[in-house]
Amino acid sequence: MRTLRDIQALRDALGEYRRRGQRIALVPTMGNLHAGHLALVESARQNADVVVSSLFVNPMQFGPGEDLDAYPRTFEADQIQLEAASCDVLFAPTTTTLYPDGLENQTRVHVPDVSQGLCGGSRPGHFDGVSTVVTMLFNLVQPDVACFGEKDYQQLAVIRKLVRDLHLPIEIIGVPIVRAEDGLALSSRNGYLSLEQREIATRLYRTLCDMRSALEAGESLKKVLHQGYCALYDAGLTPDYLELRDTLLGPVDAETREAVLLAAVQLGPTRLIDNLSLRLPETPVDTTDTTPGANPPGSQ
Ligand code: PAF
Repeated sequence: MRTLRDIQALRDALGEYRRRGQRIALVPTMGNLHAGHLALVESARQNADVVVSSLFVNPMQFGPGEDLDAYPRTFEADQIQLEAASCDVLFAPTTTTLYPDGLENQTRVHVPDVSQGLCGGSRPGHFDGVSTVVTMLFNLVQPDVACFGEKDYQQLAVIRKLVRDLHLPIEIIGVPIVRAEDGLALSSRNGYLSLEQREIATRLYRTLCDMRSALEAGESLKKVLHQGYCALYDAGLTPDYLELRDTLLGPVDAETREAVLLAAVQLGPTRLIDNLSLRLPETPVDTTDTTPGANPPGSQ
């Protein structure tokens, strides 16, 4: 595996592969790799001849007061894991390389509509930061295919729209969530959890599973959302949002069959997100109350 830090070296290396007619896959990451990232690399391997992974903790997608400084940086361990996963090129630029004029003067990419609400509602500017760095990486690597985790469901939707709207010739592959044995979705932020919090965190997935079962059995959405909020609060998790959307993140209506439950919760200083796809029954669900945060207990 070649580790490259500057743009010209990356372009030279990728030029060689392209001249040989090889198909290139990109796996963008912020490092602190776990099995979820390795599933992205595996998917990239299956869909291309050459795998490029980027490792860059992107300051533009962190808001003021968020965990940019605390974000785990484990470069050597990440390098070893990528090498073992048969990654061909690791691109690890510095902030100055990607943003030489500083963040203030940086051209930004804004993906409308799908960036609003959910994580975009609680983290203003977050998806502009993601869209900007991902567009930059797409431009630098010019991959044929790029792999992103389904755990960041809204991020994946934003990137799919970005690629469609800008007519980028890149196939976007969504890779299923990798979970720990107890169901917790793997995330670099899980490392912030104490042993006690790690136990509580599993209740997020379990709540989503209970909600899915109830919705698939035809329970009213209003009731299921109420029960979901109660279960999260009872567990010691503070919900940021808990919503049912259609698979394109639009509102569900009586016609919706394929849907996704999305949640973000705060556990001490740690923000956790998760989602679960489900199929709604033919009996129309009561969709009168699908507005963000409808009737969360404790919100009045
Ligand atoms: O999902 C992530 O790790 C980041 O948001 C990404 C896509 C690498 C952009 O910085």
